Amino acid sequence: MAIAVILVLLVLGSVLFHFTTPWYFTEIASHWSNIDMTINITFWVTGLVFVAVNLFMAWSVYRYRQKKGKKSEATYEPENARLELGLTIFTTVGVAAMLTPGLFVWAQFVNVPDEAHEFEAFASQWQWAFRYPGEDGELGAADIRHITEENPWGIDPDDPAGQDDIVVKTPVIYLPIDEPVKVLMRSRDVLHNFTVPQFRAKMDMIPGMVSYMWVTPTREGEFEILCEQYCGLGHHIMRARVNVVERHEFDEWLDEQPTFAETQSRPRGDAEAGQQQYAACAACHGPEGQGNRDMNAPRLAGLQSWYVERQLRYYQQGIRGAHEDDEFGQIMAPMANVVGTDEARRNVSAYIETLPSDEPAPVTMEGGNIERGGRIYRANCAACHANDGRGSWATDAPNLVGMDDWYMALQLEHYRNGIRGEHRDDDYGYQMTSMVYAMRNEQQVQDVLAYIRTLQ
Ligand code: CUA
Repeated sequence: MAIAVILVLLVLGSVLFHFTTPWYFTEIASHWSNIDMTINITFWVTGLVFVAVNLFMAWSVYRYRQKKGKKSEATYEPENARLELGLTIFTTVGVAAMLTPGLFVWAQFVNVPDEAHEFEAFASQWQWAFRYPGEDGELGAADIRHITEENPWGIDPDDPAGQDDIVVKTPVIYLPIDEPVKVLMRSRDVLHNFTVPQFRAKMDMIPGMVSYMWVTPTREGEFEILCEQYCGLGHHIMRARVNVVERHEFDEWLDEQPTFAETQSRPRGDAEAGQQQYAACAACHGPEGQGNRDMNAPRLAGLQSWYVERQLRYYQQGIRGAHEDDEFGQIMAPMANVVGTDEARRNVSAYIETLPSDEPAPVTMEGGNIERGGRIYRANCAACHANDGRGSWATDAPNLVGMDDWYMALQLEHYRNGIRGEHRDDDYGYQMTSMVYAMRNEQQVQDVLAYIRTLQ
């Protein structure tokens, strides 16, 4: 009896939950309402079967329960051709009802309309890059063999069709509303996946091939781009954003993005010119970029130019150093205006990269278990900062070797407390806000710092 009641409650609870749950589809923002329809059909078919089977079971348990002094009415009936035929037809109809609509939707899904415009999504551990065709309306050839620091998209430098391609190295893109678009997908390393939940469509990104899907965005707004294939440690921080806007707004945004040719002809930073600008930095950071603990100025020698350049830009744009609890960042922010132009930032960063970095920063902190710290480091930090701690442009992670321990400790604290990395334009800082939880307490932070001090 109790079991029959439990079964009925289970059915009631499940049905109620399905209709009242807050975890249902987000509001759709594309033309793929057909995909919702197929999912709903599946819910209805499987839901009805679930209800019917469980209620039948509850009824059977109740109807044929054991009664004192009475022989059970239940009988064993191994063969019943009529019942079996009925169940077979019923199941066939149910399964066909679930699968047939999906076949029609799949046919739409793989047949891209001719008028669809294109863009490319390029995935790597754990970042996104994007590319739009230039004036020729065509994307140039690309291959991971062409990837360099200056050409992270791997665009073939010898393909004329690729020169006018518009490249985006930030995890934010735009799309025009009500226009079909074909998303071409490549992966640099492992299996990734391109998903915008509100678009309903998704597709895997496979190293060595170009996969695709298409969608017509139908609602203006900003939506998150997610990777939905487990692609390693940083899978959960591999995110980007797509803004669906009016055509003219899209065109304006696209106009502001550089072409591939422009990124390739950009002058490299001029360290000599940068030396003069560095004079302003030297007052706090020291003439050799060795840092000054008394001024709360961290060491700069040993940092890669692309990292310094980005941080200077962040300070200037209020992405870094604007938080009211970031005492030293607030001092740095106005200083970043001294190198306010792209060129000045490039130059001073190039100069900083040339500063001698053989001598590590003085150790100001004690304690920490090197062995334990090494384990935490290798299992987490190394994924981006590399086993040797020297970081890489490919993962946008700066060098840690020989840098100030007090400064690293402070930044870890800032990441943990949302003082750094919370700004939504801090593309890689926010990844750190998630990764700091690899160090669960102050002791583990000390352990990791102790280990980093041994990396020389
Ligand atoms: Cu890329 Cu998960």
